[in-house]
Amino acid sequence: MKDYIVFLAQQHPAFRYAELETLADLHNIKVDLSSHDETIPFIIVQLENDEIAKKWLQRAVLAKGIYELWGVGSTEQQLHEDVKRRSSKKFPLYKNVTFKFDIIGYQGGKSNAEKIKMIENFSYVEFEGKIRMKNPEETFTVLEHYIPPSDHEAAKTPFKYYFGRQIELTQRTNGILEKYDLKKRRYIGTTTFEAELSLISCNLAQVDTGKIMYDPFAGTGSFLVAGSAFGALTVGSDIDGRMIRGKGNNTIKANFDQYGTSTLFMDVLTMDFTHNAFRKNMVIDTIVCDPPYGIREGLKVLGARNPERFVGKEDVEIDGKKAYLLKDYIPTKKPYELDSLLYDLLQFSSERLPIGGRLAFWMPTANDEYVPTLIPQHKNLELKYHLVQEFNKWSRRLLVYINRGGDFNGEDNRAATSLPEFRKKYFKVSQYK
Ligand SMILES: C[S@@+](CC[C@H](N)C(=O)[O-])C[C@H]1O[C@@H](n2cnc3c(N)ncnc32)[C@H](O)[C@@H]1O
Repeated sequence: MKDYIVFLAQQHPAFRYAELETLADLHNIKVDLSSHDETIPFIIVQLENDEIAKKWLQRAVLAKGIYELWGVGSTEQQLHEDVKRRSSKKFPLYKNVTFKFDIIGYQGGKSNAEKIKMIENFSYVEFEGKIRMKNPEETFTVLEHYIPPSDHEAAKTPFKYYFGRQIELTQRTNGILEKYDLKKRRYIGTTTFEAELSLISCNLAQVDTGKIMYDPFAGTGSFLVAGSAFGALTVGSDIDGRMIRGKGNNTIKANFDQYGTSTLFMDVLTMDFTHNAFRKNMVIDTIVCDPPYGIREGLKVLGARNPERFVGKEDVEIDGKKAYLLKDYIPTKKPYELDSLLYDLLQFSSERLPIGGRLAFWMPTANDEYVPTLIPQHKNLELKYHLVQEFNKWSRRLLVYINRGGDFNGEDNRAATSLPEFRKKYFKVSQYK
């Protein structure tokens, strides 16, 4: 086993551990993450080799890079002593490679002159290969962790230094967030989910190449394009045909074209999730979604609010054809409870996902009453993560479940949530929008 240092993103730190763990699990990699600390953007881990390190973090959104660790120190002097102690045996291996140095500061940094001086202080390593700023064989990196004394003051010297050989820069560093930035996306709407958390959701759901991902509330297709970024074949549905059709040339399909993933777009169809028309044996490996929860997203299902008003209406004919069989017929819809819909989603996932398949969805929760939130649970599904994103007056959670099948016998709280009081408190969230 070798030591590696991971440079983490300080965005959404509450989601970071889950992403690191999930990607390790996806690739069957054993890694001890117990030293992870949400306030620190570095973690030292032990892994078998560089190939495993690469595989683990290549598609990470909340990590920036992974480096073979050559030394650590609280001062530059300590860093050099540690590099000589731990890594002097490695020096000859890299004597003749083309190389460059990077010096990366977190919450602080050095001037170019200071950087050059720092690089010169590594002369004892005796690299004799050519320096190449573009495509060198090896990149040696100093990671500096600064801690500013206050919001208005910069730290003068780092609190810690790490030195390592770059193994892999993640998709985050390689520009995935810029590529999927909503400002540049052809088709977006009021419900479009931000790119970074869409990609993180797909990572936590273990969306992967060759798997089929389904979003039952696809809207403008945010999760579908994110899923295709990780190689999944994607299919979506939504009760509102206008959303998935888009406007003119601005469509979900156009977004896939924009990202060069159109071969991974199966289709989107207009469908009420609670009257799901997919045949029972259609393969769905992963479900990622953002169910409707407010006025804007319009939680509706097929049916009539006052069914008595429709008695006999099924016989209405236009030009000799039953009205409800015409192409432009707009079926009536009625409101539905969010909790019922979420349990429908859990039930559907338990029936359709393979054992080990994941469901990831976002659930809004009120947070100004200091009451513990009840998370919907199904007896076949293990609740793997519930991760909170806080806003001013409300919060939302990313819930990730794994289908464990009929023998799992987990907690099931559907009955508890059908109490009227519960519904009022936990599911009436549109007021926070
Ligand atoms: C929060 S939005 C999802 C937005 C989507 N993630 C996007 O990228 O735009 C919820 C979506 O659920 C749809 N919806 C509401 N009730 C539905 C139902 N019964 N079946 C399927 N979709 C439904 C709404 O039309 C809306 O597009």
